[in-house]
Amino acid sequence: MIRKTVLILAAAAIGGFLLIQLAPFGRNHTNPAVVQEPTWDSPQTRALFERACADCHSNNTVWPWYSQVAPISWLVYRDTMEGRQKFNVSEWNRPQEGGEAAETVIKGEMPPLIYLPTHPEARLTTAEKEQLIRGLQATFGSEQKNGEYDRNEKEGRGDDDTD
Ligand code: HEC
Repeated sequence: MIRKTVLILAAAAIGGFLLIQLAPFGRNHTNPAVVQEPTWDSPQTRALFERACADCHSNNTVWPWYSQVAPISWLVYRDTMEGRQKFNVSEWNRPQEGGEAAETVIKGEMPPLIYLPTHPEARLTTAEKEQLIRGLQATFGSEQKNGEYDRNEKEGRGDDDTD
């Protein structure tokens, strides 16, 4: 009796898993073209960004195999689209929230914790983190420095967010 119930539950789980694979959401993994990159302060900043941020904040996303498998694919897809929309170093021709970049690392908000188990290269040492923070501030400016001229804030490229 118990064995039968377990079998039915297992079959239902497998059936459900196979069914959600048919959902049309999150399967488009084509990377848009790189239009324009910011002027990085150094190749080191760019390299650290590549390791810890670029999958979600550039058009050079590496889509791992599990990003093809629902429901993980939905999560990866949503994070990537939302991340790119807010801050995309491949589309530096449009308005962006660059001034917040350093801040997100200082506060430990970025990269998101959920990203780290599958991306050990994004785990930065304290020294690397400090280097990235300084590099982000030098490249994108910092909202902390009130009133200071910030080269990426010109032409309305600054933060137009309300939070
Ligand atoms: C797994 C994907 C992912 C990675 C990796 C990632 N981000 Fe994000 N990022 C997001 C998402 C999703 C959002 C929008 C939602 C939010 O703010 O949490 C975001 C928002 C942002 C924003 C907009 C401001 C804000 O707080 O909303 C900035 C700036 C940012 N990230 C910087 C970074 C930096 C710098 C790194 C690397 C140290 C990084 N992110 C790594 C997914 C990612």
